[in-house]
Amino acid sequence: MATKKTTTQRRPGPDGLGASGAADGRAIIAFHHVDLEYDDQMALSDVTFSVANGEFVCLTGPSGAGKSSILRLVAMDAFPTKGQVIVRGMPATRMNRGRVPELRREIGFVFQDFRLLEDRSVEENVAFAQLVVGVPHLQILQNVMRVLTQVGLYDKRHRLPRQLSGGEQQRVAIARAMVNSPKILLADEPTGNLDPVTAQEIIDLLFRVNDSGTCVLFSTHDHEIVKTFGQRVLVVDGGKLLSDERRRVPIDRSASLVDHMYRAPAEAAGAVQRPARKEPVHA
Ligand SMILES: Nc1ncnc2c1ncn2[C@@H]1O[C@H](COP(=O)(O)OP(=O)(O)OP(=O)(O)O)[C@@H](O)[C@H]1O
Ligand SMILES: [Mg+2]
Repeated sequence: MATKKTTTQRRPGPDGLGASGAADGRAIIAFHHVDLEYDDQMALSDVTFSVANGEFVCLTGPSGAGKSSILRLVAMDAFPTKGQVIVRGMPATRMNRGRVPELRREIGFVFQDFRLLEDRSVEENVAFAQLVVGVPHLQILQNVMRVLTQVGLYDKRHRLPRQLSGGEQQRVAIARAMVNSPKILLADEPTGNLDPVTAQEIIDLLFRVNDSGTCVLFSTHDHEIVKTFGQRVLVVDGGKLLSDERRRVPIDRSASLVDHMYRAPAEAAGAVQRPARKEPVHA
């Protein structure tokens, strides 16, 4: 996240891994024939995939497909009914429950509805994530300043969440998720409440997070967003993993999500290369 790269300068590397070269081929997340049942409701069935360290993966599928359930399993907020989930080398078993807080320190979360503390300022929201893990005060000040600068909100650090736009609130949520330097960022429908332009800005920011070496799992049911995606896409439906596609053809990232949505169908199919956008959205 320290670089000022835009996604237009970023092209997927071999196997759809990040252009940063951060992915080192080792699995940071592994699902092996996983079933998940809530009471009597089957949410996931025989799901197998793995994610390499530093990879950027989009999880897509309709409402109720099982996207959030997959993210919950990664966070060990749920445990598989059958099969095995291993995150950073730790198997998700009830026996390992005591070690879950330790694992969660390595995971940042971003949600559709932001989930900020409404009575705390932007900087207090971000600082809170460091306070709960016992970071020394001076270090907190430095880290909060760093991440708020990275998401372009340092000037608005004293505002309350309600004094920000939806996109700005989501950027605060991303800053809060990143301040503890997690190895994995789970973003569950982070663009679900945002207009297409703001959604694109948030995705650009997630790409920059990934450029710093953080593995990103991002869920969306929005087909337009998936079309613009040059990275790996996992499609789930009815609790099953339908496809796992590593997109080898670089998608033209210079075109924004809005361009894709309003472009003529032939162009939208990816035939036309557009000139690179010069400026980063939030540098
Ligand atoms: N806590 C729960 N108790 C019982 N069933 C649940 C629970 N959470 C989810 N489910 C069910 O599990 C299935 C998968 O839900 P999940 O939330 O993972 O879907 P999703 O793909 O994230 O959907 P959406 O796009 O609407 O967020 C659905 O059938 C849902 O009704
Ligand atoms: Mg969901």
